[in-house]
Amino acid sequence: MSTTTSRPATGHLLDLPGQAHVAEGPLDLNGMYMAHHAFRRDLVRFAVAARQTPLEDAEVWRALAVRWEQFSGILHHHHTTEDDVLWPQLLEIVDARGDAAGRATLEAMEAEHSVIDPMLAGCAAGFAAMAQTPDAATRDRLAQTAETARDTLSDHMAHEEREALPLVQELLPVEGWQRVEKAAGSGKGLKDLMFLVPWVADGLTAEQLETAFRSVGKPFKWLLALTRGGYTRREAIAFRYV
Ligand SMILES: [Fe+2]
Repeated sequence: MSTTTSRPATGHLLDLPGQAHVAEGPLDLNGMYMAHHAFRRDLVRFAVAARQTPLEDAEVWRALAVRWEQFSGILHHHHTTEDDVLWPQLLEIVDARGDAAGRATLEAMEAEHSVIDPMLAGCAAGFAAMAQTPDAATRDRLAQTAETARDTLSDHMAHEEREALPLVQELLPVEGWQRVEKAAGSGKGLKDLMFLVPWVADGLTAEQLETAFRSVGKPFKWLLALTRGGYTRREAIAFRYV
């Protein structure tokens, strides 16, 4: 989503709750770190919501099913961008250098994505079923799947932060990172941004938000002011029991 590709003016990269590592270097990875923070935060909430939402609260189950679709759409786009645009560029570079360990790390990234996909599909089916015809067995299965997805995705993002993003900083030229950011932002209309902006901002401190604004631009700040109230009201319904 960023149009800025050099380091933020303050020279600092975000170190957000749950983040395993800050990969220092010439590229502004803040968009990536904000997305990872939001995925971690959401997965914790979904796992608790699946366990604790009462079967009879149909309004909340419907809101959760919608909210899962929003979350998984963003996550799918994030992984697709990495698999189609980020890892292939890096693979070419590590292969040219004969860096077998680098290749193994990048192959692990793609392999982990394909392990995560069926878990996400299981959660989508579970939340959709709970919104239609709630029952205790479906809820228990969903809660279990959501917890597994939370743990597996957390491990994957930590692995990416510790091993793959340092490679990005070390090897990828600025134009390569620009290509990734362009692909990450492609196909997003105003309606998507109206959700995406308050969603990535959720849980960031005022200081972290200032860093974010420097990375992703002023329109982010205006959109956040416009959208935050509605987002917060909808979150309060979906995550009423969290
Ligand atoms: Fe990522």
